[in-house]
Amino acid sequence: MFVAGARPNFVKIAPLLREFAKHRDVFKTSLVHTGQHYDFEMSGVFFQGLQIPAPNIHLNVGSHSHAVQTARIMIAFEKVVTAEKPDLVVVVGDVNSTMACALVVTKLGVKLAHVEAGLRSFDRTMPEEINRVVTDSLSDYLFVSEESGLKNLRREGVSSDKVHFVGNVMIDSLIWAGKHVGKSKVLDDLNLTEKEYGVVTLHRPANVDSDRSLLEIYDILRIVSEKIELIYPVHPRTRTMLKKHGLIKKLTDLTNLRLTEPLGYLDFVKLMKESRLVLTDSGGIQEETTALGVPCLTIRENTERPATVKHGTNTLVGKDKQKIARCVTNILRENFKQGKVPALWDGTASQRIAGIIRDQIVDRPVA
Ligand code: UD1
Repeated sequence: MFVAGARPNFVKIAPLLREFAKHRDVFKTSLVHTGQHYDFEMSGVFFQGLQIPAPNIHLNVGSHSHAVQTARIMIAFEKVVTAEKPDLVVVVGDVNSTMACALVVTKLGVKLAHVEAGLRSFDRTMPEEINRVVTDSLSDYLFVSEESGLKNLRREGVSSDKVHFVGNVMIDSLIWAGKHVGKSKVLDDLNLTEKEYGVVTLHRPANVDSDRSLLEIYDILRIVSEKIELIYPVHPRTRTMLKKHGLIKKLTDLTNLRLTEPLGYLDFVKLMKESRLVLTDSGGIQEETTALGVPCLTIRENTERPATVKHGTNTLVGKDKQKIARCVTNILRENFKQGKVPALWDGTASQRIAGIIRDQIVDRPVA
């Protein structure tokens, strides 16, 4: 049983479902959608773009405070697991749905696999960090995407026979998208020329939940948009906050910045791939830009994905305006690190995961 709830989960679950479908001789799979994200732009469009089969079960939980959202997912998912009796539940990433379902599964004595295990920002003010630590501590199978994850789990005392270094399922989707992205008309629709614009995405509570921080973001976008045109697909959380603090007009008044609705997967991949640079606070986009070789400036003080900084094209810039301006100038002068793709980010992580689960659960010799 696979669980997905929020936008980044759909990108990770798609290649897993595709791969497990090749093992129909041994696996019967089902997909549970928690409903953490529910707008068409945050959910349905990803099912279409990534060709994900419709969920077998939908929990329709919606947006609430962390405790209420987590609790509602747990109550609804407990009923599902009790009725369906899966042999294994697979959760991905670090969102509230991931942790809520992990707690349910473990308490019911069902085996749990976590895809994207071991990542740590060491910043407990991030809800995702709590979700990662809890989910990893409960999992029977920990599938790790980058080398830092192995080190983190070892330090936390997780038994090495539970840990499998498999690579990155997000990059499986990205490589799959490479074959389909030709269909996207996003550059024409937005009247953009390759490598002549930058892309912005911001939605972390630390960046968008206070007016002080939003004003700093506004300054950053003003400075960067004086150097290059920016396209900014706005996350619903951010839109709500921009409205609340009266900043939408201020942003739309910047001549070289365009706000759009959130984009579908193929359109966003195309937009990112052809851009000159990306400014983000997303985890997944740090990885995708590294795999695409596109310069990425991450508006955070830390990252749980250090391989993107060590090997890839990512630079942590926080909200340091001077540093950001310097980095953008260097990128525009082609004077920026090239980066290389981290180990095993090769499009076959899901294949490795299905193989390991098949070997360990299905093909294990009876004692
Ligand atoms: C969640 C994840 C985050 C992930 C992000 C990707 C957690 C703690 N956070 O953050 O790790 O990077 O998704 O998008 O799980 N909303 C809508 N429509 C939707 C979904 C949300 O309007 O379909 C609005 C609601 O006003 C909601 C707000 O966005 O209150 C936040 O949604 P929520 O799922 O709680 O967290 P995200 O900020 O999206």
